[in-house]
Amino acid sequence: MTTYETMPFHLETERLILRPWDVSDAAEFSALLSERGNGTPEVERIRSSIEELLAATATTGIALLPIQRRAEGDFIGYCGLIIGRATLEEPEIAYELFRRAHGRGYATEAAGAVLGAAAATGRKRLWSTVGSWNTPSLRVLEKLGFERDHVSMEENGEVVWLTRSLP
Ligand SMILES: CC(C)(COP(=O)(O)OP(=O)(O)OC[C@H]1O[C@@H](n2cnc3c(N)ncnc32)[C@H](O)[C@@H]1OP(=O)(O)O)[C@@H](O)C(=O)NCCC(=O)NCCS
Repeated sequence: MTTYETMPFHLETERLILRPWDVSDAAEFSALLSERGNGTPEVERIRSSIEELLAATATTGIALLPIQRRAEGDFIGYCGLIIGRATLEEPEIAYELFRRAHGRGYATEAAGAVLGAAAATGRKRLWSTVGSWNTPSLRVLEKLGFERDHVSMEENGEVVWLTRSLP
């Protein structure tokens, strides 16, 4: 079995800071999830989810990281690596931002830093799985150099699998 370095959990870009979760992020995280349109999760439950994310990271060495704007200091979403539909060896990149922050290149900027963090672990390849309807996300991945590999069919529709080699 190949072992990988732990991913760096503090990343900085021109406009953004990515850093580890804190339970005090629960209210903002809940507000972000409520934008999915299935109601607002209880903050107490999200606190537990954050504890679970931190515990999972302690064993996997990969993480989703909250994104903060440097200038405003506000939480605008998260980006990072998850096992998802893939594997710990070749994990998935994932991101989700508040609507108010969309369309300014933040997802691409954050994900670019996560690609660097993934490469720093010694990994050679990442995946991403995206609903085929999700044009903005597919565009982000295209800008990052991901290439379409195949599609699969799920209950909620067609899922596009994209992959990217790491230097
Ligand atoms: C996907 C998501 C993170 C993108 O965040 P973002 O910060 O707006 O992304 P960026 O600004 O870096 O790039 C978005 C690109 O999509 C393009 N785009 C956005 N909406 C579009 C549309 N309806 N049709 C075509 N292109 C579109 C933008 O123009 C931009 O491309 P460009 O730089 O060539 O102009 C954001 O839409 C989001 O949080 N969505 C909900 C959660 C989600 O879907 N996560 C991904 C699950 S796989």
